[in-house]
Amino acid sequence: MTDSPILLSIAVLGGTGKEGKGLVYRWAKAGYRVLIGSRAAEKAQAAAADVLSMLGGSGSVEGLDNPTAAQKADIVVLTVPYSAHRDTLEAVKEAVKGKILIDVTVPLVPPKVAKVQMPPAGSAAQEAREILGEGAQVAAAFQNISHEHLLEGGDVECDVLVTGTGPEVRAEAIKLVEAAGLTGWDAGPIENSVVVEGLTSVLIGINKKYGSTHAGIKITGVKK
Ligand SMILES: NC(=O)c1ccc[n+]([C@@H]2O[C@H](COP(=O)([O-])OP(=O)(O)OC[C@H]3O[C@@H](n4cnc5c(N)ncnc54)[C@H](OP(=O)(O)O)[C@@H]3O)[C@@H](O)[C@H]2O)c1
Repeated sequence: MTDSPILLSIAVLGGTGKEGKGLVYRWAKAGYRVLIGSRAAEKAQAAAADVLSMLGGSGSVEGLDNPTAAQKADIVVLTVPYSAHRDTLEAVKEAVKGKILIDVTVPLVPPKVAKVQMPPAGSAAQEAREILGEGAQVAAAFQNISHEHLLEGGDVECDVLVTGTGPEVRAEAIKLVEAAGLTGWDAGPIENSVVVEGLTSVLIGINKKYGSTHAGIKITGVKK
């Protein structure tokens, strides 16, 4: 994988949805080649056209089916509802081999989405590592960032805690957090993703209780 934003291509599986489209928009704006993945290639092509029109026609965004997007990309990002997490990963398992997967999934269990309910693996990201198998390079990021913030395109008053299977994996994910215009922190091993994924339910509860849609978190007491 290269550090060059011109050559690095990012597949966003489920990039037709709210959170994924926000990330596609930010990375395409930053100059990355972005491949939107979908269960249906036509839906991904329509989403790519939407993002390109948001960017005034400039940028490199293409719509493909999920396995093709994962195959063609240098790095793969997963933004699907938890109910679709396992099936989506099984469908791209071969294509993701040797690549970093950044999992954005929060294992919410409707209707009680303000209550932390983790899967047996410990977290969605740990489950992704299990599904992808030995040697999988998985990071977890963006779980606490609302899609509204991403699509607005301005500064976001919420930091991104990045966990992952190793320091290099986390460092690569942090580069993409920064490319999206956000502040990313190395939050340690993939086992710590339980805290970050769980925090999303806490923030949803705070939003409900205090009438907001934008509750977030900031790391204080340390400078970058
Ligand atoms: N929305 C947020 O503000 C936010 C914030 C932080 C984290 N997240 C997390 O990010 C993930 C995506 O959230 P989202 O709000 O973007 O979700 P979404 O808009 O409901 O769905 C995203 C995409 O997932 C794909 N998908 C695959 N299988 C699906 C299925 N069985 N049912 C529905 N969609 C399916 C769909 O793409 P195709 O039909 O094109 O395949 C859909 O466009 C979730 O795990 C969520 O918890 C969301």
